Amino acid sequence: MKAIAVKPGTPNSVHMTELPQPQIGDIEDGTGVLVRVLKVGVDATDKEINDALYGNAPAGCDFLTIGHECFGVVEEVGENVRRVRVGDLVTATVRRPGGSIYDQIGTYDMTSEEVYYERGINLRHGFMTEYFVDAEEYIVKIPVGLSHLHVLMEPMSCAAKAIGQAYEVQQRMKVWRPQRAFVMGAGQIGLLSTLVLKLRGLDVYTMARSAKGTLNSEIVEGFEATYVSTTETDVETLVEQVGKADLIVDATGSSAVAFDSMRHLGHNGVLVWTSVTGGDRRCEVSSDEVNMQWVLGNKLLLGSVNANRTHFEAGIADLALGEVMYPGVAQRILTNPVDGLENYQELMRLLVEDKQALKVYMNVAQ
Ligand code: BGC
Ligand code: ZN
Repeated sequence: MKAIAVKPGTPNSVHMTELPQPQIGDIEDGTGVLVRVLKVGVDATDKEINDALYGNAPAGCDFLTIGHECFGVVEEVGENVRRVRVGDLVTATVRRPGGSIYDQIGTYDMTSEEVYYERGINLRHGFMTEYFVDAEEYIVKIPVGLSHLHVLMEPMSCAAKAIGQAYEVQQRMKVWRPQRAFVMGAGQIGLLSTLVLKLRGLDVYTMARSAKGTLNSEIVEGFEATYVSTTETDVETLVEQVGKADLIVDATGSSAVAFDSMRHLGHNGVLVWTSVTGGDRRCEVSSDEVNMQWVLGNKLLLGSVNANRTHFEAGIADLALGEVMYPGVAQRILTNPVDGLENYQELMRLLVEDKQALKVYMNVAQ
């Protein structure tokens, strides 16, 4: 069967290759699920893997099948599978467990090991192919009523984890009543975080450089959040108007913005960083000021990566609620489909060149 792969270490090596058809018997305990891939989304991670900034092939292989945002249909299940049935729409978690205690209890997103295994990213083949098999533990059912949001499940799981973790760490407070959130960046993670925070009842300000009137700003407003163009109103001015934030999610991909956000967090607040910044940029920070404010305000900085099954389930529940509260808004994120695995070059071109494209994805099969 066809698969789209890169040669890790070689920039711009994306190509089409052949993989053997997987079998449910590949999972020996009878929990194998065979999924026919329908769609696969791509994001900045895929771009940076194709730029050879990171990403490794599975042991004994000289290529890595890309794709970590999948949407498919179950075609066959092993005799011990209980969670899904043939015909179910599904997605799959991305990370696979290593050896730490955290990996062994289903929280592989919190591994304490340096090496991590991620399908389509590091040491495990991804989903941009015709079929894949995995143990049912990693397969997550998608309600039929959300089939139009297909490849958003994985990015949504990352937003759900980031915000879920912020609430969990805030159990350090006897009560925590966050009122105002800032979301830095209006890409897919910024937009989905905006939705999650609105569903939790916060007053959300989502910031990006572009002037109002872009699709991104319309989606923010569709979720009944406030869009702030930072070229028109800088964050200082916003803070003068509305005050500092109780919770900030940075999803800009810019470490400079991530650090700068530290100045805009209120007392007892949490700042969550979600961007995997593959470069080697440096920036100047007012370290005395931030250090002092951080201590005097009991503030917290939290990094969040990946997501386990519980976050996929929470994210899917939030997408379902989002459809009821703000019907038709989330699907506007899904801007750029490309039909057919053979058109992988067009997929990568859109991902790299089309600055308006919010979500580029491959229609692998009908
Ligand atoms: C993926 C995550 C992954 C992270 C780091 C992101 O693009 O969506 O699942 O953990 O990259 O590799
Ligand atoms: Zn991703």
